[in-house]
Amino acid sequence: MTKLLAVNDVHVSYGKVEAVRNATLDVGANEIVTIIGANGAGKTTLLNAIMGILPLTGSVTFADRQISKLEIEDRVAAGLCIVPEHRELFGTMTVEENVRLGGFRVSRAVAAREEERVYTLFPRLKERRTQLAGTLSGGEQQMLAMGRALMSQPRLLMLDEPSLGLAPLIVADIFRTVSELKQAGVSVLLVEQNARAALEIADRAYVMELGEFVMNGSAKDISGDQRVVASYLGFQHDEQNKL
Ligand SMILES: Nc1ncnc2c1ncn2[C@@H]1O[C@H](COP(=O)(O)OP(=O)(O)OP(=O)(O)O)[C@@H](O)[C@H]1O
Ligand SMILES: [Mg+2]
Repeated sequence: MTKLLAVNDVHVSYGKVEAVRNATLDVGANEIVTIIGANGAGKTTLLNAIMGILPLTGSVTFADRQISKLEIEDRVAAGLCIVPEHRELFGTMTVEENVRLGGFRVSRAVAAREEERVYTLFPRLKERRTQLAGTLSGGEQQMLAMGRALMSQPRLLMLDEPSLGLAPLIVADIFRTVSELKQAGVSVLLVEQNARAALEIADRAYVMELGEFVMNGSAKDISGDQRVVASYLGFQHDEQNKL
């Protein structure tokens, strides 16, 4: 499979502390890849470094181009986008204004078309076009953050904990949408603590522990791995997901 994103031997540090070590990962065209791992494993750090928010050493190629030294805006222009863990919406602006901000770099015609696509993907946002983003429910805010990111027409969307703090029914909705994105030709790099839900929609998975990848494989193989089951798919998670 063609690699859309290829991360090679990447290290990311906060001062003297190395938070990500020797990370090597790839995402193919039209693929959903998930990174699972405990709190503090380094998942957010790696996504932020790929996006250019944090400096890294090592190699990051995207669509066969070295991007590890590019500014964030140039990575966005190349087709990379991130929906950060804390969503970072403009709470005092409306849904529609937030969505439109995501399309500021594309032409007006493209923005209009993408805006319609966003509202088709998230009918709930369409109903709430004029509502202030800060008054949306958590699930709606996640939808808005994803919708805004899609306005830049990414080829790869990185999602950092999209299910964080959301009720199970909304989580199912969000994950269904992620699968729909793949059908629409957008690749997804998904960071999730809800490993079970992530593994259900992902093609492949990487497991991160203490800043390093310790395992990777098809989502099916990883779901069946005894260590993964014991650490990430245990009884407690199971009960949470069934509610
Ligand atoms: N700005 C920062 N300065 C110093 N250390 C940081 C900073 N941000 C994160 N770290 C540390 O880097 C390590 C990795 O953090 P990171 O946020 O990447 O983990 P994570 O896998 O995303 O965790 P979570 O699942 O809780 O979101 C942690 O030990 C964290 O304390
Ligand atoms: Mg994180």
